[in-house]
Amino acid sequence: MSTSADLGNITVRKACNEDLEPVYKLSVHFASEGMLRRRDIFEFADSIADFWVATDGQDLIACVGRHIEESDAGPYAVCYNFCVRSSHQGRGIGGFLLEAVLDDARRHGARSVYAASTRTGDWFIRRGFALTKTGQAPAEWISQLDPTRGAAIYMRSLR
Ligand SMILES: CC(C)(COP(=O)(O)OP(=O)(O)OC[C@H]1O[C@@H](n2cnc3c(N)ncnc32)[C@H](O)[C@@H]1OP(=O)(O)O)[C@@H](O)C(=O)NCCC(=O)NCCS
Repeated sequence: MSTSADLGNITVRKACNEDLEPVYKLSVHFASEGMLRRRDIFEFADSIADFWVATDGQDLIACVGRHIEESDAGPYAVCYNFCVRSSHQGRGIGGFLLEAVLDDARRHGARSVYAASTRTGDWFIRRGFALTKTGQAPAEWISQLDPTRGAAIYMRSLR
């Protein structure tokens, strides 16, 4: 998938292998603040094909992972490890990245998208997500979350 778009100097595109280290370094900061689950670089290496990134020139300034899973109710998408460098927040980059991921998820047939968040629930709600009971989210995905983080679950239908 090679969709890309411009937001001033910002380009949003699918990640490539060269993005692995910048994605890891950006994410480490937010993980150390407790905003993201800690992942080592090997976990990112296994999932870099899942990622969308935003760049400002040569600098990687935002990323989000998304994967598509199957369930009895049909395919669903999950957004994870979503972060925008602090210096670039509040400029619409996160919203743009999310829309790119949702369009991609629709193209893959996903009917809903889930996110787990400890502190940004309101941000997701303003973008069409609803707080969802854990029991209503796909059990296989829920079982992979770290229960000690106490993240709330948000879901948006994709139509
Ligand atoms: C959440 C995040 C990805 C949003 O990216 P962004 O590029 O700043 O988002 P946008 O510019 O598209 O949207 C900014 C708006 O969201 C609001 N916002 C930012 N963080 C928010 C939060 N935690 N809760 C609610 N609203 C928030 C801003 O005030 C701004 O509002 P405005 O449009 O009325 O000015 C980014 O703030 C971030 O990296 N947060 C830290 C990591 C994190 O918690 N990730 C989520 C884990 S799933």
